[in-house]
This record gives sequence, structure tokens and C-alpha cells, in this order.
Amino acid sequence: MSQPFQWLIQAFPPSPKWSPDDMPDLSGKVVLVTGGNSGIGFEMIKSLLRKNAKVYLAARSEQKGAAAIRALEQESGGKTAEFLQLDLSDLAAVRASAQEFAKRESHLDILFLNAGVMFPPPEQLTAQKYDATVGVNVVGHHLFLRLLYPLLLSRPSSGTSPGPARIVWVSSCANYLVPGCLDFATFTRTRTSGAHEKLKVDVDLFGMYCQSKLAQIQASALVARRAGEAGEDVVSIAVDPGHIRSDIFRGTTSFFFKLWDMLIAYPVSYGALTPLYAATSTEALAYNGKYLRAWARPGQPHPASYDREQQEQLWSWLEEQVKDYI
Ligand SMILES: NC(=O)c1ccc[n+]([C@@H]2O[C@H](COP(=O)([O-])OP(=O)(O)OC[C@H]3O[C@@H](n4cnc5c(N)ncnc54)[C@H](OP(=O)(O)O)[C@@H]3O)[C@@H](O)[C@H]2O)c1
Repeated sequence: MSQPFQWLIQAFPPSPKWSPDDMPDLSGKVVLVTGGNSGIGFEMIKSLLRKNAKVYLAARSEQKGAAAIRALEQESGGKTAEFLQLDLSDLAAVRASAQEFAKRESHLDILFLNAGVMFPPPEQLTAQKYDATVGVNVVGHHLFLRLLYPLLLSRPSSGTSPGPARIVWVSSCANYLVPGCLDFATFTRTRTSGAHEKLKVDVDLFGMYCQSKLAQIQASALVARRAGEAGEDVVSIAVDPGHIRSDIFRGTTSFFFKLWDMLIAYPVSYGALTPLYAATSTEALAYNGKYLRAWARPGQPHPASYDREQQEQLWSWLEEQVKDYI
């Protein structure tokens, strides 16, 4: 089956067989959700709070974070999330955020790498001059994970929080649309504003998004493999949350994406389902290092996903980029 066709059919999943109501009680679990102030992240936090987890809502805007926490309190019977400031587009800010978290918690049970951008302003780069999409979705998250990893390992071995630590990478079926393999040269490329045709720019930006989502699956599989080899009690799963009506398309005015959003996308509550399944269900432990698609079903991602050489190449590239911040 061709890669674009694989992408297209993900838009029509069968009805879900699992719901966030099926989650066990999460009392005693410390959970962190990046990009928790809106969309899928917000929906996940709502369900996690209802199941009594202690949840950190990590967001770049303090104002948006506070508004989201107020809304969550109303929607989850008065339960409150903790705010953690995190701007993934600046590695110094990512480090400060991880340090702040480590001051407040001695361990972490579940980490959702959920924040993401799809259509940033075309000229935008991150503080360290990466493409804005790859810089946030991949480089920023890589550093954040590396800095928090010791806390995933230092969970109490008994008591309120049994089972392995879990990392859930909110990837996308956009991974199927990468032609061939990752093109590292594009990760630091600049664009100039002005003369571009709008559609061409959007296609280019979407291409970076697709690469970022394949990179997340490769990194997830590598983390799972290395954790297994080291005997660490950590599970890492990449998921496609499904085609969801959220703010992710906000940066584009392209008719195609607007129509897609209007006709195909599911309500945002559906988007929380697959990542929550990966993070909390016993059955999902069987998918360590693997890929789940909507709704909570095993899937076979892009052929490059499980290529060890490509995974190692990505990881080495990432290590090099963040070495001054570790
Ligand atoms: N919606 C879909 O159809 C779909 C499909 C597949 C995968 N996904 C993935 O699902 C995840 C969540 O997206 P969503 O659909 O819920 O869209 P969303 O509502 O736009 O959520 C994206 C979140 O990422 C945050 N973010 C962006 N840049 C950031 C930065 N520099 N530092 C920290 N946080 C930042 C946003 O914060 P601000 O509010 O401050 O911008 C927002 O909270 C993304 O990884 C996306 O790629 C979505």
C-alpha cells in the first residue's frame, strides 16, 4: 500500500473500543503533559485529573496556562493541575523548565511529549536557529526528555505507583508522507518571506511537520530499545492521535487544510484517547517501542521508523545539537 494511501485511510478508523473512562485510578502518579493548555493536551489532562493523577500542564504562556487550569477545574470537579512554564523553541528555556520540575518533584511516572506546531510563520526559526517545526517538535522535546529521564528512572519501586514509567510521543499519521528518510539539511534551513506562493510555502511547512513526526517515532523506538538493553523500567510508545479538530491548523489559510479540518476531523476528545491508552492501559505495555494509531490500535508506521541505522543517526544528530544544554 502506498504511503500517501496509508495516510489517507487513517482518517477513517473504526469506532473506538476503549475510552478514557477505562483508565485505572491514577492516584499517586505524577504526569507531565507538554502543550497542555489546548487541544489534545488539554483533553488528556481533563481525563487524567478525573482519575486523580497529579498533572503538570506545561505551556509556554503563563496566561494561557492559567486560563486552561481554571477551565480544567470547572470541567473536572474542582481538581487542579500544576503549571510548568516550558517554551520548546528555546533550549535554554527547556533546561530551565526541566530544572524547575526537578525542584518540585522527585520522580515522574508519565511524560506526554504532546506539544507541536504545524504551520509556524515561514520565516520563523527557534532561538538556536532550527526550523521552527523541527526545533519545537523534535529538538526541544529531545532535550526535555533527556533532562527529565533521570526522574523517570527514580520512581519508587513499590507503593502508589506500580508499573514502568511511560513516555508517550504524540506523533501523527503525517509520518507516512515523508519521501524516503529524514533530510537533516532542511532542519536548519531558513526561508525568506515575500515572493513565495502561499500554497508552496504551506506544502513546504507541512513537509517539515511530516519529518518531525517520523523523527518522533524513530526516537521513541530507539528510547524503548536502549531502555530495554539497559534494564531500565521505561516504556516508550509513539501514537497517532487521529485527525482531530484543534488549533494545529491555525497557521494556514489553505483551502485544502481548512476543508480537511471541516469535513474529516473528529472532535478533540477523540484525540486524547490513543495517547491515554498508551500511557495507562496494561494492554499497551505490549507496544513498547511500537506505534499506535487511532483509536488505540497497533499500526505499522513509515518503513524508516524501525531502521536502526537511521534511528542512531537521528539520535547522534540530536545529541550534538543539545550538548551545551545537558
Ligand atoms: N489535531 C490533529 O489532527 C493532530 C493529528 C496528528 C497529530 N497531532 C499532534 O497532536 C499534538 C497536539 O496538537 P493539537 O492538535 O492538540 O493542537 P494544538 O491545540 O495547537 O496544541 C498544540 C500545543 O503545542 C503548544 N506549543 C506550540 N509551540 C510550543 C512551544 N514552543 N513551546 C511549548 N508549547 C508549544 C501549543 O501552545 P500555544 O497554545 O502556546 O501555541 C499548544 O498547547 C501535536 O503534537 C500535533 O502534532 C494532532
